[in-house]
Amino acid sequence: MPVYCITGTNRSIGLEFVRQLVQSSDNTIIAGVRSLDSDLGDLKSLTSASPSAHILQLDVGSSSSIQEFAKAAAGLLKENGGDKKIDFLLNSAGVNIGSAQNSLNLVAEDVHSQITINVLGPAQLTASLLEAKLLSSDVRILNMTSGLASSQLSTENRPNKCTGYSISKAGLNMLSIHQADHLKAHLPGVVVVVMDPGWVKTRMGGNGAHLEPEESVGSIVNVLQGLKTEDNGGFFHYTGKRLPW
Ligand SMILES: NC(=O)c1ccc[n+]([C@@H]2O[C@H](COP(=O)([O-])OP(=O)(O)OC[C@H]3O[C@@H](n4cnc5c(N)ncnc54)[C@H](OP(=O)(O)O)[C@@H]3O)[C@@H](O)[C@H]2O)c1
Repeated sequence: MPVYCITGTNRSIGLEFVRQLVQSSDNTIIAGVRSLDSDLGDLKSLTSASPSAHILQLDVGSSSSIQEFAKAAAGLLKENGGDKKIDFLLNSAGVNIGSAQNSLNLVAEDVHSQITINVLGPAQLTASLLEAKLLSSDVRILNMTSGLASSQLSTENRPNKCTGYSISKAGLNMLSIHQADHLKAHLPGVVVVVMDPGWVKTRMGGNGAHLEPEESVGSIVNVLQGLKTEDNGGFFHYTGKRLPW
């Protein structure tokens, strides 16, 4: 009876996680959304038929929202069987702001926003859920990164683009290496990975992207379910192939 906690579920890749995971009534799903006032029609149509799927407000760019979310998730898990903990934490929410900026004309405010949402969001959410004792001892944590975070691939593939976003996702990769180390003292079976979902047809990926969300997410879910403790701290392509740092 696994519990999945997913961020950024109102649309795109996050919504697709919910669509696929809600198919099994064994799964408990905690679906985080930045704002309860946004258009949640697609998400609600998936979750309304499932008593074990719950929508909670979670703005990963806000420390207070993260803390409120941890409290609400604790209450929800208590109501739904007491000893349940999160088995899969899927940090999918992310932003790509000022994608036309390069290293010579970066706008500081845009870089700060991307670090706040793409790096500090997953860091603070994980820490808050750990503090609230809501993570299972062998939790799988997916921090959704990008091929643009790879130093090796960025050296091989030119021209470089989306500089601020790439910097933030490279930061997320390093965060994940540190989480993989630090969490082990608290959760002996933890596996933290960063995964590149491929180039996916979403609002961020655009219509020219190669992959439908169902193909990317279907493969990611398979890879996540097959992770072993020795994969802790790994960098994976959505296909399960290892990527170079
Ligand atoms: N699509 C691709 O080709 C691609 C490639 C590489 C990596 N990725 C990564 O995959 C993940 C999902 O991307 P996507 O294609 O689904 O992006 P997307 O189409 O832009 O959707 C982004 C999602 O993140 C949510 N979000 C943004 N800021 C948030 C915040 N502060 N708090 C909570 N939720 C927030 C959005 O909610 P709102 O609608 O409320 O803003 C939306 O649900 C991201 O981490 C992205 O960097 C995507």
